[in-house]
Amino acid sequence: MSDRTALIQPDRGQKAIPVHLVDKSGTDALHRALGEGQRAVIAAQKFEGSPGEVVIVPDGNGWFALAGIEPRDSLGTWCLARLAEVLPGGIYRVAPHASQVGAAHPKIGAALVGWICAQYRFDRYKTDGAGTESRVLLTSEARAIAPALAEAGAIGLVRDLVNTPAEDMGPAQLETEARVLAKMFGAEIHIVTGDALERDYPMVHAVGRAASRHHAPRLIELEWGDAKHPRVALVGKGVCFDTGGLDLKPGSGMALMKKDMGGAAHALALARLVMEHALPVRLHLLVPAVENAVSGNAMRPGDILRSRQGLSIEVTNTDAEGRLVLGDALTRASEERPEVLIDFATLTGAARVALGPDLPAVFARTDETAAALAAAGVKADDPVWRLPLHEGYREYLKSDVADMVNAHGNGFAGASVAALFLDRFVGEGIDWVHYDTFAWRPVAKPGRPKGGEALGLRAAWGLLVSRYGANRAA
Ligand code: BES
Ligand code: MN
Ligand code: ZN
Repeated sequence: MSDRTALIQPDRGQKAIPVHLVDKSGTDALHRALGEGQRAVIAAQKFEGSPGEVVIVPDGNGWFALAGIEPRDSLGTWCLARLAEVLPGGIYRVAPHASQVGAAHPKIGAALVGWICAQYRFDRYKTDGAGTESRVLLTSEARAIAPALAEAGAIGLVRDLVNTPAEDMGPAQLETEARVLAKMFGAEIHIVTGDALERDYPMVHAVGRAASRHHAPRLIELEWGDAKHPRVALVGKGVCFDTGGLDLKPGSGMALMKKDMGGAAHALALARLVMEHALPVRLHLLVPAVENAVSGNAMRPGDILRSRQGLSIEVTNTDAEGRLVLGDALTRASEERPEVLIDFATLTGAARVALGPDLPAVFARTDETAAALAAAGVKADDPVWRLPLHEGYREYLKSDVADMVNAHGNGFAGASVAALFLDRFVGEGIDWVHYDTFAWRPVAKPGRPKGGEALGLRAAWGLLVSRYGANRAA
């Protein structure tokens, strides 16, 4: 995509094409202030001032754009996104029309993220490469620019990592991404592979070993920040491709499985936000990075794995691999007793059946944290929905021969049972949040093209900012 950081600039009175925002109640007054020809152009395009509507209106030798918005004091994240998609390349300024001067005009700070995200393109593999011209927005809300760039950058990172095919986004490339972040922000990075992985993270090794020739498994660990600050641990499922293993997925179920490292992408992006804003926390990022492949040395149904934590796990389904690799990573995270532990994973189809692609399922041990996360999601236009860690379903994980099975057979409450499996690896008393997210948008919405997507990322960021941000009231 074009240089993201150039897409929003402080308004210093540069020459720019005006964009006027109007809600339905304001269209009459605006019409009265316009010329007859302008009114005709607007009528011909059936513009009514509904949210998302955009028209271009001639004005002397030039033109301006009119955009319909909801009547509110400050715009939401996606309110300007369609504008940024349909306007021609150029420099724009949101300003009241002459007929609106003196009237209250909404703040646009929150919509800057949507303006940038709307111009995301995944063109790494397009040979024509020309791309589209960028639309630059000038804003007088100068303090909103840097945070918007950071958030849109984090969303763009998730999209890029998820969209990149598995051959080019394997465990080694996830390691590279983590190394780039570590270098950028002066974090320590530690990679566990080979025999050490087999010894210290046996479940990560068991899942990943079938791909060891081509995409060797590894545990990526990054630490950043002042050791005196409260510990925050982030864990992301980094299954770079999920064939299902010997319990092979059918082609239709495998088609999108390059996105099975979406959890890792979210964790990396959230870690970047934390470090970019120098949040006063001690950050611990863990990504078990594997490919769930089919090979002569693949783990089999019926195998019993030992976990880092000590529990033995009967593999009843090799396609329930995410919870295995996460189990060992959650154990490692818990050893440092973090104040809060958040994991992100494209863990179950069941979460998708329950909530669809827009709403990530979240699980939390405490009602307070669940409520704070939900509130942060609403505030950021990045909603999440809580599902239960229902104790009564723990018995579904009983094994005849080991301490637990990795997958139950009755098909009930798949997302909750997967979360209960993870719960066994999270240290007691740790404030734990688990995301079961889709990381993919099957149908485009303004500012949100089809493909890899950050879902629940800014909700989690909002939660961290509300807890640890210097600017707690914000
Ligand atoms: N990566 C999948 C989950 C998934 C599938 C997420 C489709 C999004 C869309 C995960 O590893 C998986 O295969 N889960 C199984 C678990 C089952 C075997 C208990 C599932 O959900 O079917
Ligand atoms: Mn699977
Ligand atoms: Zn998976």
